[in-house]
Amino acid sequence: MKKVYYIETFGCQMNVHDSEKMSGILKSEGYAETDNPRNADLIVFNTCSIREKAEQKFFSRLGRLKTLKNRNPDLKIAVAGCIAQQEGNKILHRTPYVDYVIGPQNLHLINKISTIQGHCIACDDNPVLADTDFCVDRKDRIKAWVTIMYGCNNFCSYCIVPHTRGREKSRPSEKILDEIEGLSREGFREITLLGQNVNSYRSELDFVGLLKHINRISRIERIRFITSHPKDLSIDLIHAVRDIEKVCQHIHLPLQSGSSRILKLMNRKYSYDDYIKKIEMLRKIMPDISITTDIITGFPQESNEDHASTIRALKEIAFDGIFAFNYSPRPGTKAATFTGHIDVKVKSQRLYEIIDVQNMITDRKNKAIEGTIQQVLVESVVTNGGGRVFTGRTRTSKIVNCPFDDSVIPSDIVEVKILKAKRHSLEGILHKP
Ligand code: 5AD
Ligand code: SF4
Repeated sequence: MKKVYYIETFGCQMNVHDSEKMSGILKSEGYAETDNPRNADLIVFNTCSIREKAEQKFFSRLGRLKTLKNRNPDLKIAVAGCIAQQEGNKILHRTPYVDYVIGPQNLHLINKISTIQGHCIACDDNPVLADTDFCVDRKDRIKAWVTIMYGCNNFCSYCIVPHTRGREKSRPSEKILDEIEGLSREGFREITLLGQNVNSYRSELDFVGLLKHINRISRIERIRFITSHPKDLSIDLIHAVRDIEKVCQHIHLPLQSGSSRILKLMNRKYSYDDYIKKIEMLRKIMPDISITTDIITGFPQESNEDHASTIRALKEIAFDGIFAFNYSPRPGTKAATFTGHIDVKVKSQRLYEIIDVQNMITDRKNKAIEGTIQQVLVESVVTNGGGRVFTGRTRTSKIVNCPFDDSVIPSDIVEVKILKAKRHSLEGILHKP
């Protein structure tokens, strides 16, 4: 009988995609997937350590596996991802029912699991990760993530990622293009290039060169990328987003704070003025581009004045959307050793204010889209209270819901007239000129 595995993923898109890679490896080893951990011979938790909350969620889920292991001593449990890298030994010590610990640079080793007796830790640096080919088990059939680089060199003072994912390594351009050619043959329409800092991609091609080559691949209709670091966002890339037909007009450009003093403490390597100049350049060249960002609130030593600067920045820039988080000290990072940590109540109050201000801006920006015609890539058809609707995204990455029409099938790109803007989605009708 086939062995059965269950994977649960915590955290960012990078982790979701790493799980697709591990899933692909396990399937090629003859495993079958289940969505019920009770039926599994192997359980993989792919973990995230970016904030304490994500860590707590994982440890509480892990605790529940003890009963399953007691019931089935043959069950194997693997902890993968960033917590595995950071706290491998501690995990094996604290939770002896965990069999394997696999860091994000060693996920290819998941295929060795069936041959290993006893506990194992695989958390070494892996200099050949970027050259490793994975057979990826993608869950979506229309949109695909494609890793273009691993790791990060930036060492923002709050961030655990360079400690868990290691130094930047770009994948060879040819391998990326081959992978996307394959995706095009399988019928995928949209690809999102993944890297912690895609602007510093360097291999046979640079990032703009890579975009130009991907643009020539037939049947791929949309190209997106995350994440861009403001310090590396070049005028060439901005022109590329405007001029390369399939590249979508959306950029995620994490600001983190509106105070230059805090940005310096964060080691972001740009001031608020530098950031604003990039925004002005983006909007001058592409007035309709959608810009989203990340904000950290309550960073050590953040004063009321620094917080007010962030609020002012949100009002001045008017992002299309933000992801805002309370600062969470990560052991091993520089910021965790800073003095002047902010009381959690103050952090949460500031976060609340930030979300409140942004909600008004998001509403206003979405309202301005009412009445326009948008190109939507149809991703799925669902039945809700009001009947069947299809869902997709605009080129600017806004979610659109639209009454279903028999002429539409998932993976089509259709024109939709936007009738009503909500905070997190737009409603429209199919536009048939
Ligand atoms: N605390 C809070 N937010 C963090 N991020 C990264 N590290 C931390 C931390 N220690 C946020 C940043 C980053 C996003 C992916 O997560 O805003 O851009
Ligand atoms: Fe973390 Fe900064 Fe690297 Fe992003 S650029 S992964 S925030 S260290």
